[in-house]
Amino acid sequence: MEKYLINPNQRISVIHKNIYGNFSEHLGRCIYEGLYVGNDSPIPNVNGMRTDVVNALREIGLPVLRWPGGCFADEYHWKDGIGPKAARKKMINTHWGGVVEDNSFGTHEFFELCRQIGCNPYITGNVGSGSVQEMSEWVEYMTFDGVSPMAELRRENGAEQAWKLPYFGVGNENWGCGGHMTAEFYADQYRRYATYVRNYSADRRICKIACGPNAADYHWTEVLMKQAAPYMDALSLHYYTCIRDPRRKKIGHALEFDTNEYYEIVEAAWKMEELVTRHSEIMNRYDPEKRISLVVDEWGTWHDVEEGTNPGFLYQQNAMRDAIVAGLTLNIFNKHSDRVRMANIAQTINVLQAVALTDGEEMLLTPTYHVFRLYREHQNNTLLGSYITTPMLGEAGNVPQLIESASINDDGTIVATIVNTSMTESAEIACQIADFSVGSVSAEILTGDAHDHNSFENKNAVTPADFTDFTLTADGFSTVIPGCSVVRFLIK
Ligand code: AHR
Repeated sequence: MEKYLINPNQRISVIHKNIYGNFSEHLGRCIYEGLYVGNDSPIPNVNGMRTDVVNALREIGLPVLRWPGGCFADEYHWKDGIGPKAARKKMINTHWGGVVEDNSFGTHEFFELCRQIGCNPYITGNVGSGSVQEMSEWVEYMTFDGVSPMAELRRENGAEQAWKLPYFGVGNENWGCGGHMTAEFYADQYRRYATYVRNYSADRRICKIACGPNAADYHWTEVLMKQAAPYMDALSLHYYTCIRDPRRKKIGHALEFDTNEYYEIVEAAWKMEELVTRHSEIMNRYDPEKRISLVVDEWGTWHDVEEGTNPGFLYQQNAMRDAIVAGLTLNIFNKHSDRVRMANIAQTINVLQAVALTDGEEMLLTPTYHVFRLYREHQNNTLLGSYITTPMLGEAGNVPQLIESASINDDGTIVATIVNTSMTESAEIACQIADFSVGSVSAEILTGDAHDHNSFENKNAVTPADFTDFTLTADGFSTVIPGCSVVRFLIK
């Protein structure tokens, strides 16, 4: 029997709702077809935005959406995406499949999408191939309400009022596709570009996000914090979960994997705990007050593309194994919410670890989507002290079978989410809650074989169900959680 201890007296940090964010790039069928179909499409839409997808994203309470990239951001010139659509420039999307980008989805469309979803916009600017002036003018175009050339241009294009832009990224992966810069060079570039990301209104400050490290590049974090900390509000981190075996030609399929490959993915996902811990430790030395957030604005599984699809479109299916990755990763972020205040899974629709897939007018919700729906209850709660004993799994025995987080909302309801990462073994758990008299417990579970997934033939093969396999005890409850499952308890 494993012990699960929750201490409602230990209130640690607010779980910022933005931890439950998404990332959408001009890549494959994410923006075009996935989110935006245009006004004339037979697919039901409002101002070009797919109604089914918008409704699904509202349902998980999507708090923030990052756009336009990714690698695309450092090649994107925002003026190509404004004004009459017929006159917008066409370009080649060199990073992603070499397809024609017609710029029909641009700044105005992005703000309209966010309005319909009810989420905050997070825009990433172009450092790699854009100028300081171009970035500065984009911010002026979006956020300045007074009299200026860019504010006038925005009005000419139909938006009388400036938009609220709470988050702005100064470049993307500038250590890689965003210019192959050194940390030292980028830190200086960041200081220069960020200077001209103006706050035009005192009550609408823009949170400036610096490009952060690639996975375990601790040197990058050290240099950025040392050279640019006073000029940033957040530092990003990118880490993808994939099987990194150089002997393999491919990285592994989303649905076809053996037991070893299952645990390799779970172990790769658990690496996030170490990454967040070590990057936070560096940040703590330069910013002990934790003013600067760590923003994990690209994370998720990266598998081989589905056969017959454009390799540059990164279209992959999504199984219960991906749901396990989502559940454990979100628990890690909750636990580090004193520093991690935003995260954006890559990518919303039809790309990498998507929450939904589309096929023409059809849409399905992936197992990953259902995890976001269950975990929605954590948004803006207060993280509680909690601990679970657990067997260790994986080849080297360094992956916990049970990974949890617990929070409390304003009404005093405790939200506890537990992931059982074992492919097959259930876990008996006794949960004790300090100084808390349990009146009622309700729970939902997402479980199945690790390969289970939703397809266009069977859209509800993996879907959450009520979970009742628990018994109330004097100070909590006891339960048996099946292998390969994600469970959310609501304790009142
Ligand atoms: O999400 C796909 C790509 O992965 C992004 O464009 C880039 O930032 C990262 O390397």
